[in-house]
Amino acid sequence: MKISELIKKFPEEKDLKAHSRPYFNHSIEFKNIFTPLERAEMLDIAGLNMFFFPSEMVTGCDLLSDSGTTSMTNEQWAALHLGDEAYGSNRGYFLVMKQIRETFGEEFFNDPNSGRPNAFIFHQGRPAEDALFTIVGRLGRDLIIPGNGHFDTTGANIKRNNMQAVNLFSPELTSESSGSHFKGNMDVERFRTLLELSGKKIPLSYLTITNNTGGGQPVSMENISEVSRLSHEYDIPLFFDACRFAENAWFIQQYEKGYRNKEIRMIVKEMFSYVDGFTISFKKDGLVNMGGGLFLKDKGLFMKKYPDIPDALMGYQIDKEGHPTYGGLSGRDIMTLAAGLKISVKEEYLTYRINQVKDFGEELHKHGLPVITPIGGHAVYLDMNKFFADTAMKPEDFGGLAFTAILLAAYGHRAIELGNFSFGHYDKKMQKEMLPEFNFVRFAIPRLRYEKKDLDSVAEAVNILYENRDKIPAVNVTYGRELPMRHFKARFEFRK
Ligand code: F0G
Repeated sequence: MKISELIKKFPEEKDLKAHSRPYFNHSIEFKNIFTPLERAEMLDIAGLNMFFFPSEMVTGCDLLSDSGTTSMTNEQWAALHLGDEAYGSNRGYFLVMKQIRETFGEEFFNDPNSGRPNAFIFHQGRPAEDALFTIVGRLGRDLIIPGNGHFDTTGANIKRNNMQAVNLFSPELTSESSGSHFKGNMDVERFRTLLELSGKKIPLSYLTITNNTGGGQPVSMENISEVSRLSHEYDIPLFFDACRFAENAWFIQQYEKGYRNKEIRMIVKEMFSYVDGFTISFKKDGLVNMGGGLFLKDKGLFMKKYPDIPDALMGYQIDKEGHPTYGGLSGRDIMTLAAGLKISVKEEYLTYRINQVKDFGEELHKHGLPVITPIGGHAVYLDMNKFFADTAMKPEDFGGLAFTAILLAAYGHRAIELGNFSFGHYDKKMQKEMLPEFNFVRFAIPRLRYEKKDLDSVAEAVNILYENRDKIPAVNVTYGRELPMRHFKARFEFRK
């Protein structure tokens, strides 16, 4: 009997419960081991601020961010050695141009000699946002940038250029009864009203895919196309904040009607067919440790409507980052980007990646923890209002900060508060805390870095803290309460 016939008598591989990862460890790094007491002492010195805690002392999992924290593939490490550190038009630039065209569409990267500059490489996402909003901010006064949920740096760059960042979150986002898989959508009704009332003040609209500020939730193709149609009806270009474009495409493939049999690559192309430009931090779905960019669609509404902007952007980029053909990145980093983008749209990678995040979230959900469901693509979000609902914790006690500090000191895992402290602010006139719409703690999962055991240990620790939530005290802000982007700078102590 042929072995191909024989194996048909056994259960099929695809039906097994456990599947091995679609990759293996190519090189590993041993951690330093620190005791809870050592971590606690260090955290005291860091004023309980997660950003100031030395990463070498994170004995458990470092879930502070999925940004720039990816473990690179052997092809990327090899590509690094092929980096060409020339001052203009280095080898990697041409490879990235090819890869951007292949991934997002030809029209997003013109040949540098075409006389129509439309691709601007930056060293990460926020300088790309800075460039776009600095130039767009000059178009008029009292301008508004609507979005489905601006990331904090995006919002900050909009505001710094005297524009208003308006978040039109989907009402489904924190609704437990909603079965929607696309809670990251923009609220189309509110968008329509805003267009009717203030359309003339909107230079561009923005969709963040996936919606990091909104629970890491994806945006459906239907929402993308509807927002694009409405925006264009008012002659307003639409942009993506495309950091997690591949993960968003995977959700469309899995959960949106009509996409199950479409390749991720084709879904990505379709998504980008609806926009006139995008900013991106390649530190997420670019699978690199550093990189970003701003890309305008050739002959798209933005380039048509504002024909002088591409040149202004090029001037700005040269002043701030460098020549467009390297734009703030070393030649070796550009090489890793060209290789990383190829992997990020691979189906087996995405399926494994997103299911890993989902399994971790479901482990928490199973134990009754208030996580945002369905679980998003890159992170699990814990709703801290619900977490502390039956305790004496008040919103201005910043329970989320207290939770992250104890999780790190006691169990060695680093997460981040994205809620009342990070997204709220202190109103000096009214002398009170202004609370944001959401109060989350986020566990962001770095790409290709951790194994199931690692995340199981986080779930166990989080569960213990939940069971002991009445023992978590409030925190006082000892420094930085009134500062902008205060979560990066502030210091805290536990209230006695
Ligand atoms: N847009 C989104 C949606 C982001 O999540 C980030 C970064 C940026 C823009 C800015 O990119 O860091 O390369 O300048 N998010 C990280 C996070 C920092 O942890 O969520 P950057």
